This record gives sequence, C-alpha cells and structure tokens, in this order.
Amino acid sequence: LALELPVSASAIAVITGASSGIGLATAELFLAAGWQVLALSRRPCSLAGVHNVLVDLQAPDLAATVAQGLFEALEKACAGPARKIALVHNAAQFLNDSALELNPQDLLQLLQVNVVASAVLNKVVVPFMDAGSSITYVGSTLSEKAVANTASYCISKHAVVGLMRATCQDLLGRRIHTTCVCPGFVDTPMLRAGRTDEAMAPFSALTAYQKILQPEEVAQIIWNAANTPALNGAVVHANYGQIEH
Ligand SMILES: NC(=O)c1ccc[n+]([C@@H]2O[C@H](COP(=O)([O-])OP(=O)(O)OC[C@H]3O[C@@H](n4cnc5c(N)ncnc54)[C@H](OP(=O)(O)O)[C@@H]3O)[C@@H](O)[C@H]2O)c1
Repeated sequence: LALELPVSASAIAVITGASSGIGLATAELFLAAGWQVLALSRRPCSLAGVHNVLVDLQAPDLAATVAQGLFEALEKACAGPARKIALVHNAAQFLNDSALELNPQDLLQLLQVNVVASAVLNKVVVPFMDAGSSITYVGSTLSEKAVANTASYCISKHAVVGLMRATCQDLLGRRIHTTCVCPGFVDTPMLRAGRTDEAMAPFSALTAYQKILQPEEVAQIIWNAANTPALNGAVVHANYGQIEH
C-alpha cells in the first residue's frame, strides 16, 4: 500500500543512519515526496538536498552535543507554520556475541546507539511536532525472537519495542503516532558485511519466498508506517515469512 500524500515543504523527516542501507533508501523516498530531510549519522547522507547533522550516536556526551546541533537544524527547518515531522530511528550497530560471554562495555555502547540515542532524540524532536507527526522505530525480527551469537543486538532490538510501546502511551492526547518496523534479512552493508551474492544465498533460503528484502522495500514500509496513524503502537514485521527451525 503506497500512500500518496500531498507534497509539502513544511513536512520534515528526521532520519538517523541515512548514510547507508535502509536509512538512505528512506531519505530518498521522503525527499521524492517533497519533504525536507534532516539526516543524522557519522558519515553524510549522499543525497542532494538533505541537511546533514553529523553526529556519533555513541558519543558519551550525546545529550549535550546532539541536542544542540539538532535543535538548531530543526529551528531552521520549522521556520514555516506547520510542523509535521516524521522521526525515523533507523541507525543501529550489530555485534556477534554470546549471552554467556557478554562484554559489558560492548553491550552498553551498542545499547546507546540502538536504544538510548532514540530516547535522547525524542526529547529534542517531540516539542517541535504538531498533530499528524510520527515516530518510527526500526526493530528487527530479533525484536521478538533470538538466534545464537547475537545477544547484545537481540537485547537492544527487544528494548526498541519496549521503547516504542512506552512512547505510544506517553504520547497520548497529542495525535502523534508511533510504530516499530521489524525487517527480516535486508541486503545492506550491515547484513552483507563483505559477503558475495553466493554467500548471501543461505539468508534467502530462510524465507518462504526464498528472497531477502531490498532496502527500498523496507523504506516503503517505513513510509507507510510514518503516514498511517491507525498503526499507532503496532509492531510491523516484514520478512517474507521467516522459516522456523
Ligand atoms: N540489514 C538487515 O538485514 C537488517 C535486518 C533487521 C533490522 N535491520 C535494522 O535496519 C536498520 C538499518 O540498518 P541497515 O541494514 O541499513 O545497516 P547499514 O547500512 O549498516 O546502516 C546503518 C546506519 O546506522 C548508522 N550508525 C551506526 N552507528 C552509528 C553511530 N555511532 N552514530 C550515528 N549513526 C550510526 C550508520 O551511519 P554512519 O556509519 O555513517 O554513522 C548507517 O547509516 C538498523 O536499525 C538495523 O538494525 C537491518
């Protein structure tokens, strides 16, 4: 379902991790629909017209550094009367580790990017939001299940669903909606990690359609989630039917 919304320069998308993969495809979609796009990551988003706020979401003084840069960018972007904002929490880090041998420092750092940074950004962005705005979290199939050797990532993606549900309750009365989009295997640098097409084949074999998602397909689902208030509080899985073993 592709929703055709009117082009509106007063609508603003704030997207983390738009320098690569799903975030980049999402930024492209919002730009094409006429939205202003503010992108937050360490590397810039390469799309013309995007306003980059370069930031390391793992920085220890995140609240102070990010808050100031983003606040200033939002003040400029929100110069017009309307403030319809789609905040997309997409940036994340992935780690292979075991629940039996967790390194606490690694876990904390990963949680900061995958969970805590989203909460910090909510505090900055929500005051700018008018009714009709949205907060979309990007979770994972690992938001509801676990596979071996992905402990920190799995913990963080379960927490993302908890943060989305808490956000939903704490936004009551504002007519701002929130969802968590949970992709399965997506062909991005995070999953590829240098793999050839041949080495990617086993991931396809784990889905009922024998295929992995393209970032553009997930971007379309994020777009729909961000523009469909009826989905408020929903966890939306997109994985072509992952085969259970
Ligand atoms: N690919 C999959 O199979 C898959 C499956 C399920 C869920 N997901 C989720 O989809 C989302 C997007 O991932 P992707 O697959 O598109 O991966 P990706 O291509 O590796 O993109 C990850 C993005 O996160 C940003 N990021 C990472 N660490 C950051 C930091 N410290 N500060 C700021 N930005 C940071 C990166 O930007 P910089 O490096 O420029 O900072 C990059 O733009 C993630 O939430 C991921 O967990 C992916």
